[in-house]
Amino acid sequence: MKEYANVTIFNHPLVRHKVAILRDERTSMKEFRELIEEITTLMTFECLKTGVPTEEREVKTPLEVCTQQMIKDNAIVIVPILRAGLGMVNGIHVLFPSARVGHIGMYRNEETLEPCEYYCKLPEDIEDKLVLVVDPMLATGGSACDAITKLKEKGCNHIKFMAVIGAPEGVARVAEAHPDVEIFVSTLDRCLNENGYILPGLGDAGDRLFGTK
Ligand code: PRP
Ligand code: URA
Repeated sequence: MKEYANVTIFNHPLVRHKVAILRDERTSMKEFRELIEEITTLMTFECLKTGVPTEEREVKTPLEVCTQQMIKDNAIVIVPILRAGLGMVNGIHVLFPSARVGHIGMYRNEETLEPCEYYCKLPEDIEDKLVLVVDPMLATGGSACDAITKLKEKGCNHIKFMAVIGAPEGVARVAEAHPDVEIFVSTLDRCLNENGYILPGLGDAGDRLFGTK
């Protein structure tokens, strides 16, 4: 895949180890859910390294008052793409519990692979927030592109996107359609199969998270 300035692919042994277990068809639903959360937490640490609105606040230690940098109240909104994106929300909340959550529901038409939106509920004042859009799977990129476009239509201009597994064509599509959005993908896979599934991938993330198949 071509290199994109707005794309970060993780190259960390801990992430690689956890993704390998995630892929295994024998991994239980419980373990799958826990791994998605843990990988999201590791990714969030890197994703929030820059661009987070902070402010100085006074803190009184037992010895003196000092000025500290803290993340502004209400600065971050998490937007999972339903369903599978829900599996990543707790992975961010363990680091930053006060982040609010908006939801965008999308499903892929199994024949055209085009995304169909069926739900959208966002915090009213989302425009000036740092918005973290999350979905474990970035396949053709259609769902991510449409979700980001929708958020931009609502006035959001500071968006980051996180996926656990990305196909090269999907990563390229989002990177090119939204060059202003930073994209974080834990693992870049080989390609898509004829049904739009990522290879080697991990199957259907929503079904594995929620036990629907
Ligand atoms: C999956 C996945 C993404 C989308 C990725 O959702 O969670 O949202 O497919 O594919 P794309 O990049 O080609 O758009 P799916 O449509 O299966 O819905 P689900 O999460 O409800 O299972
Ligand atoms: N959605 C998934 O859940 N898995 C894929 O491989 C592609 C899209």
